[in-house]
This record gives sequence, structure tokens and C-alpha cells, in this order.
Amino acid sequence: MSRDHRSREEQPVTQAHATTTTEALIASQREHWEKTLDANPAMYGLEPSEPGRYAASRFAGEGLTRVIELGAGQGRDTLELLRAGLEVTGLDYAGDALGSITAIAGPELASHLATTVHDVRQPLPFQSGSFDACYSHMLFTMALSSDELVALAGEVRRVLRPGGLCIYTVRHVGDVHYGAGVDLGDNLYENGGFVVHFFDRQLVDRLADGFDLEAVTAFEEGGLPRRLWRITMRRP
Ligand SMILES: C[S@@+](CC[C@H](N)C(=O)[O-])C[C@H]1O[C@@H](n2cnc3c(N)ncnc32)[C@H](O)[C@@H]1O
Repeated sequence: MSRDHRSREEQPVTQAHATTTTEALIASQREHWEKTLDANPAMYGLEPSEPGRYAASRFAGEGLTRVIELGAGQGRDTLELLRAGLEVTGLDYAGDALGSITAIAGPELASHLATTVHDVRQPLPFQSGSFDACYSHMLFTMALSSDELVALAGEVRRVLRPGGLCIYTVRHVGDVHYGAGVDLGDNLYENGGFVVHFFDRQLVDRLADGFDLEAVTAFEEGGLPRRLWRITMRRP
């Protein structure tokens, strides 16, 4: 009897400790990204990614000129969007990385670029209907809970004008790293200091609420390789 009683008493303490550790880990991600990007000036290379090329061509082809890029990082895809003739607002919480994009772009392209240092766990600092399109490569798959992601998708919907297109990418539960590292719950895993949210199809559908979901396209990137989905959805 007494042993059962002690274990009941200990349970909340253990859970509280785990919650605190997870919160501290997630809170430290911004600093982790800032330091990592500072130490690796071309972390993902300078060439545009496959979804970056796709989004630039798609947006330009549809005449969608005002683009918000969430999690622009060091700008490999920001540059591609600019080269396609688009007006780009690059957003990231790593301010130095964002600043480096302006320098790499050069004066002509940079005149079509605005940058915003911001944490997407807070409402987006833009007026409703400010953009024709949203692009985001591997930001939604960061240390964001499902509820935070639903709120972010709602914010994307708000800042897009009706007819606006959103293209974002995420690692998914078919990725070789899914399940590896420290399990933080909610399909979040910490591995090598990085917290990744691996998406299942249900979460894609939750985030598409209020959008017309056009396509979920599988692709791979990098040497691991990362296994990702490119999601395309439109605000009606
Ligand atoms: C995996 S990197 C991708 C960078 C870029 N899209 C690319 O593909 O080269 C994720 C980026 O999201 C940013 N990030 C992560 N969590 C964020 C948050 N809560 N708010 C704003 N930016 C965030 C990081 O600083 C980093 O630049």
C-alpha cells in the first residue's frame, strides 16, 4: 500500500520536471538557431531548394507578387523569389541571418526585399490581406506545437488576400529520423540540439482548415536524406 502511495506522489513531480525540461529546450531553440547560422554562413548552401524553385516559378506564373517567406534563414530561396521578380518580405527570428540576405542580394534585388525579425509563435506583424502568397521551407517543421501550428496557419490565412497561395514544407513521419532522439511528445523530437516536428497527414489537414488543399507532394532533400512534404493550399 505505502509503495503505491509513494509512486502516486512522485508521478506529478516527474511530469513537472519533464515539462520544464521540454519548455527550456524549446525556449533555447532561437539561440541555438542564431548560433548555428552564425557559425555556418551557408548552412543549406547558396543554391535554391527544389520547393524554392517551384514556388518562385508558380508565384511569378500566377502573377502573385507580394510574398511573405516564413523562416527565410540565410536566404537561399529568398534570392530565388527575388530573381523571379517578386516583392519579398523575409521573416525569421535569427536576425543576423536575415541581415546577411540583404548583403548577398546586392542593391538591385535588395530593393525588392523587406526583412522582419519575428517569432512565429506570436501573431504575424502584418495587416490582413497584405500578401498574395506565402512560402515557407522547413519552418513549420520546427519546435512548434500542433496548437501553435494551427494558430500560425490561421495567421497565414489572415495575412493572405482571398485567392492567395501558401506553399510550405515539412518533414513527415516517414522520415528516417522520425522517432530518433528525445521524444518531447506531439511528434516533436530533439536530435543533435535541434527540435523537429514530424508531420502526419492529420496535422496537414488540420492546418488546411479554411484553405482549399491543392496538393501534398513528397520529396527528399540533402544527404540524410530528409523526407518532406510540399503542401500547396489556397485561401478561397
Ligand atoms: C531549417 S531552417 C530553414 C531555413 C530556410 N528556409 C532554408 O531552407 O534555407 C529553419 C529556419 O526557421 C527559423 N525559425 C525556427 N523557429 C522559428 C520561429 N519560432 N520563429 C521564426 N523563425 C523560426 C530558424 O531560425 C531557421 O532560420
